Amino acid sequence: MATKTTISINDEYCLTEYRETDVRQLVDLLDTPELYKTTFSIPSPYKESDAKYWIQFATRQHPHFKTLTNWAIRDKNGKLLGGIGFILTEGVTHRGEVGYWLGTPFWGRGIATQVVAKVCEIGFEQFDFDKITAHVFSFNPASCRVLEKNGFENEGFVKKHFCKNGQLIDAYIFGRLRVETTS
Ligand SMILES: CC(C)(COP(=O)(O)OP(=O)(O)OC[C@H]1O[C@@H](n2cnc3c(N)ncnc32)[C@H](O)[C@@H]1OP(=O)(O)O)[C@@H](O)C(=O)NCCC(=O)NCCS
Repeated sequence: MATKTTISINDEYCLTEYRETDVRQLVDLLDTPELYKTTFSIPSPYKESDAKYWIQFATRQHPHFKTLTNWAIRDKNGKLLGGIGFILTEGVTHRGEVGYWLGTPFWGRGIATQVVAKVCEIGFEQFDFDKITAHVFSFNPASCRVLEKNGFENEGFVKKHFCKNGQLIDAYIFGRLRVETTS
């Protein structure tokens, strides 16, 4: 049974657990070349079996953080808009890699910027990360902008860093450090 959670972003959007009822919406939103092009691990074609696998995977609590590390992005009526989460490396708990996507009908409204802001807050406050990273394919300026607007620094350009479907892809690595507050 998935942990039920609702994290408010603002009056319009929130983060929740993925639900078994999301299968159709996941396929409708993710089975498009636009989503495949700039992401590393979203399958193409995206089938119902991929959605079911993902829901099972994403609703597990992380063994170290004892909480969800992947969330569905929804509007106030519960409609699925996209997803966001931390990609975590076993044994590494001071740093998390953020990954996110939105269905194409919802692009260009500032949603990703607001959602990334909230998830960074969760990463620093709840998971106690010292650093949050994101790798962005070189041909994804919208995602670079989302990160820049959230205080991430472009830490460098990594050549042929990803191999996807036989194609070598250059990327930028972005990082945001925890800001220590002094009292
Ligand atoms: C990347 C993605 C999440 C952005 O979501 P979004 O909600 O449309 O993003 P926002 O509206 O918050 O911000 C987008 C910013 O990029 C800018 N932008 C969009 N297309 C751009 C382009 N071709 N060149 C430069 N900037 C661009 C927008 O103008 C906006 O910046 P602004 O507010 O300064 O004007 C969305 O396009 C997506 O899901 N893409 C496919 C999956 C993906 O690439 N995920 C990220 C993997 S690293």
